Order: sequence, then C-alpha cells, then structure tokens
Amino acid sequence: MNIRILTLFPGIIEGFFASSIMAKAVQRGLINYEVVDFREYARDKHRSADDYPYGGGAGMVLKCEPLAGALDAVNAANARVIYPTPSGRLYTQEYADLLCKERDLVFICGRYEGIDQRIIDEYVDDEVSVGDYVLSSGEIASLVIIDGVYRLLDGVINKDSLAEESHQGGVLEYPHYTRPEIFRGKRVPEILLSGHHKNIERWRRRKALEKTVRIRPELLKDRSFNGEDGLLLSESISEASSPSKD
Ligand code: 6GU
Repeated sequence: MNIRILTLFPGIIEGFFASSIMAKAVQRGLINYEVVDFREYARDKHRSADDYPYGGGAGMVLKCEPLAGALDAVNAANARVIYPTPSGRLYTQEYADLLCKERDLVFICGRYEGIDQRIIDEYVDDEVSVGDYVLSSGEIASLVIIDGVYRLLDGVINKDSLAEESHQGGVLEYPHYTRPEIFRGKRVPEILLSGHHKNIERWRRRKALEKTVRIRPELLKDRSFNGEDGLLLSESISEASSPSKD
C-alpha cells in the first residue's frame, strides 16, 4: 500500500512511520510512504499556507495553491484522498476494512479552521472524523486512521489476533490475563487454568457479551440472541441475581 501524507508538521508523522510495527511493515515493503510538507508548494515570498476567511470570522483557512500543488505532485487523482475533519463521517472498523483494500491513499492534514472548500470539492473522496470531540489538527487523526488500516494488511500482524479483537464481529473483546497467577491477592479466573478449551471459549464469549451489554449496549441493538449467545446471556442474567466467583 502507498500512503502519502500532506502536512505542515512532517515530524509528527515521521516518528510514527519510524516506530514499532509500522517501521517493520515499511522495511518489509508492505507499506510505502511519503510525507509531503505542502508549504513547499506555496508560491508567495513568505511561503504562506493559510489566510483569513472570506466573510470574516475566527481563525485561518488553509489556502488552495499549496495544497493543490502537493496533491498534483503525489498524483492524488489516482488515489483515494482522505481529509480528516471533525465534520466528516465517523471512522469505523467497516471503513478501515474498506480502506485496507486500496492501493494508494492520500491524507490531507488540516490545521486551524480547515481547508478551502474548493480543495475538498476537487480532490477529496472522504471526509472522516475520528470521534465526537475536537483535536487541534489533522495529523493525529490521520495517524489514527492509518494505524487502523495498515494493521489489516496481509503480513503485518498475526491473523488470529485480528479475528478475536474488539469490533471484529460487533462485540468488545474478552479480558486477558498473563503470569503471575496471583497479583496483589487477585487470582486469574480458575477456568483459564483448566486447559478445557471448549469451556474457556464459552467463558470468553460470555465475558465479551457481558462487557458489550454493560458499556456499549448500542452495538447490540439490532441483533437478536439465539443459540449459544442467547444461552450465555441468560446464564449471565441468572447468575447476576445470585452470588458467583467471577
Ligand atoms: Cl479528523 N480532526 C480534528 N481536528 N479533530 C477531530 C477529528 C479530526 N475527528 C474528531 N475530532
């Protein structure tokens, strides 16, 4: 996958691509990336990338020419162009699953009040928000989106890890434990030490469903619980009304 990031603050982006699992993916050729400082495409002598908004109001707006120059230079016309903005569609696992099938992605990192609407109209395929809160800039939001996508590419991380995690399959993930068996008086749930794989699988599924009901009930609102899931939830409801070990 080819990823191009247009930004006024290349340092924020470079650190991410140079670290950890992403650095390995780059080294192995699974990811190609380029960070483009679009100020370099500014034409005036002060190299200004922003200007006052027509019609007045607070803040500054990123100008057309530097962005258009950078977008043309990275051949944005042949890529999926993403503009992270709090006024975009919400970023979800489904959308990450779509993006991971693309060959070329371009990200535009906004600052201030945003970018000139004509750039959005001419170049942007998707306006995407990473949540209902406001960040000071698009760099962190772009990295959130990129991180959710690149890890889905073949060979980046173990396939089993993907299958079991939160949001894959519409429920939150079950709790994990590792050594020691007792930490500050708290024991690892007995069942995980039993070696009984079928029971462990049932326990994990039940924990996942209970957690989803408790903290993200809206994820389950259009689902019906028949079969094994229904059974696990009714066990959980009946045990909630009588004392239990964990
Ligand atoms: Cl994509 N950008 C900014 N600046 N703030 C946000 C956001 C994006 N998504 C949520 N808040």
